[in-house]
Amino acid sequence: MKGVVLAGGFGTRLLPLTKVTNKHLLPVYDKPLIYYPIQTLVDAGIREVMVVTGGNNPGDFLRLLGNGKDFDLKQLSYAYQEGAGGIAEALNLAEDFADGEKIIVILGDNIIEKHILKAKQDFEKQKRGAKIMLKEVPEPQHFGVPQLDGKKVVRIEEKPKKPKSQYAVIGIYLYDNQVFDMIRTLDRSDRGELEITDVNNRYIEQGTMTWDELDGWWIDAGSSHEHLYRATQLVVKTGANNV
Ligand code: G1P
Repeated sequence: MKGVVLAGGFGTRLLPLTKVTNKHLLPVYDKPLIYYPIQTLVDAGIREVMVVTGGNNPGDFLRLLGNGKDFDLKQLSYAYQEGAGGIAEALNLAEDFADGEKIIVILGDNIIEKHILKAKQDFEKQKRGAKIMLKEVPEPQHFGVPQLDGKKVVRIEEKPKKPKSQYAVIGIYLYDNQVFDMIRTLDRSDRGELEITDVNNRYIEQGTMTWDELDGWWIDAGSSHEHLYRATQLVVKTGANNV
């Protein structure tokens, strides 16, 4: 299985911090933010990673990460997303890199306390489809929110005003190779983006979506100044990526 880190966009929610750099390069305690999601992939046994960047500072990713040697990666590839067309559009750039294999996709601003080894192993055994990870949160309206029927996810709503559960769909997604065909069928959302939630709903309609609950804390550090600050506090207190 290969890994894809999505680190595009202009980070406007973090202005003025993102005026001269990409949000994924900002510090979270003692490391740039993007180190954490890359480490999450490495901890899950992934050795081939593609970083999809964008915004105004794509060259800085190469300066920072080079050939991935610091993470003991076999291969580190890069793709460049023009504009800010959404997570699913960024993912589409990884089609040739995936080369028919299953992939784990992680948003470049998501940090977790522990690891996703079990989810990855379960997904290796899953014949086809996708897997998402859920986490109970106090304010699900800021995220993709699943509607559950027992253990089954029946639909995901993106940032709903009235959330149908207390769970957030976190930014770690496991997909089979159908994902690229599904992205091609998407229409742009009201915010002009190809939404990852629409991709996930395609899998749900197909009946091939599974989910796991994430163990330990999760934070999307790049979604607000407060979250970025909170991420540093969490990392200082317990450390991240504890295997
Ligand atoms: C994105 C997804 C959302 C998900 C979140 C996790 O939102 O669209 O479904 O819950 O990431 O970090 P964004 O932060 O890009 O608005």
